[in-house]
Amino acid sequence: MCGIVAYMGYRQVVPILMEGLHKLEYRGYDSAGCAFLSEDRQLKVFKARGKVANLERLLAEQNVCSTLGMAHTRWATHGGPSELNAHPHLSQSGHIALVHNGIIENYATLRSQLEKRGYTFRSETDTEVLVQLIEYVMSVRKDDLATSVRMALKLCIGAYAIAAIDDRHPQQLVAARKASPLAIGIGENNEEFFLASDASPIAGYTKKIVYLEDEEVAVLERGKKVRIENLHTGVVDYEVKEVDLDLSMLDKGGFPHFMLKEIFDQPAVLRDCMRGRLLEKDGRHRVVLSAVEQYREQLANAKRFTIVSCGTSWHAGLIGKQLIEHFCRIHTEVAYASEFRYSDTVIEPGEVVVAISQSGETADTLAAVEMAKAKGAFIFGIVNSVGSSIARQTDTGTYIHIGPEIGVASTKAFTGQITVLTLLALALGKTRGTVDEEEYEEVLAELDRIPDKIKKVLQQNDKIKALAQIFTYARNFLYLGRGWNYPVALEGALKLKEISYIHAEGYPAAEMKHGPIALVDQEMPVVFIATHHQLYQKIISNMQEVISRKGRIFAVVTEGDEQVKNLAVEVIEVPATLACLAPLLTVVPLQLLSYHVAVAKRLNVDQPRNLAKSVTVE
Ligand code: M6R
Repeated sequence: MCGIVAYMGYRQVVPILMEGLHKLEYRGYDSAGCAFLSEDRQLKVFKARGKVANLERLLAEQNVCSTLGMAHTRWATHGGPSELNAHPHLSQSGHIALVHNGIIENYATLRSQLEKRGYTFRSETDTEVLVQLIEYVMSVRKDDLATSVRMALKLCIGAYAIAAIDDRHPQQLVAARKASPLAIGIGENNEEFFLASDASPIAGYTKKIVYLEDEEVAVLERGKKVRIENLHTGVVDYEVKEVDLDLSMLDKGGFPHFMLKEIFDQPAVLRDCMRGRLLEKDGRHRVVLSAVEQYREQLANAKRFTIVSCGTSWHAGLIGKQLIEHFCRIHTEVAYASEFRYSDTVIEPGEVVVAISQSGETADTLAAVEMAKAKGAFIFGIVNSVGSSIARQTDTGTYIHIGPEIGVASTKAFTGQITVLTLLALALGKTRGTVDEEEYEEVLAELDRIPDKIKKVLQQNDKIKALAQIFTYARNFLYLGRGWNYPVALEGALKLKEISYIHAEGYPAAEMKHGPIALVDQEMPVVFIATHHQLYQKIISNMQEVISRKGRIFAVVTEGDEQVKNLAVEVIEVPATLACLAPLLTVVPLQLLSYHVAVAKRLNVDQPRNLAKSVTVE
């Protein structure tokens, strides 16, 4: 969580930092701050509570002239969202400034040790402890900033991505990472350097990027090659990657919010996701996934699959389980990464663990991958962010290629993940001989038509918007689905609660009678996902149970449905499709519904309270 951006070079730093912070604001937005080294080598710090725009307003009143600086947008962990707790934090002498993303777990012990040595603290943060520790180490050992950072970090337990500057070493910008991402952009002839939590603030300036690895400290000095040292083993070789980001994906493209743009992006980005993987020749389709070709042995002979992920990616995992079991006949489990990482679960060599993550930086998923790897599992990643930590930790995998997702509520990543899971299950099923030839062709041909069918769902945006107006009063929602649509019910409920702050529960429809039905009354909207598939008649019975308790039903149904229309207050139709692909269509109206409810309530859709896009703390 938290976003870091820093620059050292020959350009004026303020516009670079502010533009960068805006791109990283999805990572946290409760306060923002920056530190600059002025031309007369004075360290200047500015902070503002709330959004980056507040900091920007503050800076507009100053006359900052600097070519070295760093900035931070915060998602509070230690200490509430106040100006005092905002980063950067200064050391006691005021010479060193530090920005930090992550958590120093042993900060309380370190703080009391520093207090005994005369250090005082202004904030409640673990970050201030780290900057004081760096200063203390420097005062004892008389080393430069980079060495002092390295020595201090050796004493820290936890996760960090940091940037530090010291007004006594004005030629140095020091960065380090462990379990929190940090990218370094390298300008022409090493005359300028950029640092950021992801590549988006850097991509407009240079394509040459180095991703720091865990426990590495980088020293950036104008005109010199980047030096990277591992905390324990010393100087390391590193790879400079050429990163080509589609920058047009980073703006709203005329939509009022990123979330709406990303919902509407789905037809196009799912085509990107399938490009070169779903192939058609003479009316016959086939899947080619290089990861499956290359690791046929490990994947096709797997004893068991376990999918690990969080939030929306976990919901995609529930659909993945059904796909893999149906097409590959391999027993598959789905675990919350946060539970899996600390569990005593049995994972053995010969098993496959699939990590699903949009950001590729989710701390729990990353730790689950590391744990499974240590137990000998083969790790397959389904990730969006190219070069992210999870992508780099896996043995192989398939990127979903849906472009950057900025809205905190995940939308296009969910459909991208299901698309890749479908391709994976079919590719593997074909290899194992467990998928019926006719069904293989039928599913792939239909998958090819899904983007156009999503376009048809999107045409109902106005209708869903009107429907949303009547939902703003509701305090509780129930979302019910069965079979392939059960994870969609969970996802619909998650979308609503995270951006509209209305409590919502997703449930398997038949399970409702074992408890949640007690909540149903005329006040409670109940959203059913009831497409024309194998459990259709069963779900109609579940609707009758709700109607008997005066519940108000809203339903997502297959085009032309008449039965549900007679039971529900309102229906949204989606084109007919195969049961296993239904989630790709049925989730779209639910994404739009939560979006419009949140807009009607005048809430901040792209940056809902208390959340951040990339959850890099556990
Ligand atoms: O980046 P990841 O896919 O690993 O993120 C997992 C969850 O944090 C994420 O899906 C979260 O639940 C979203 N805010 C849901 O919209």
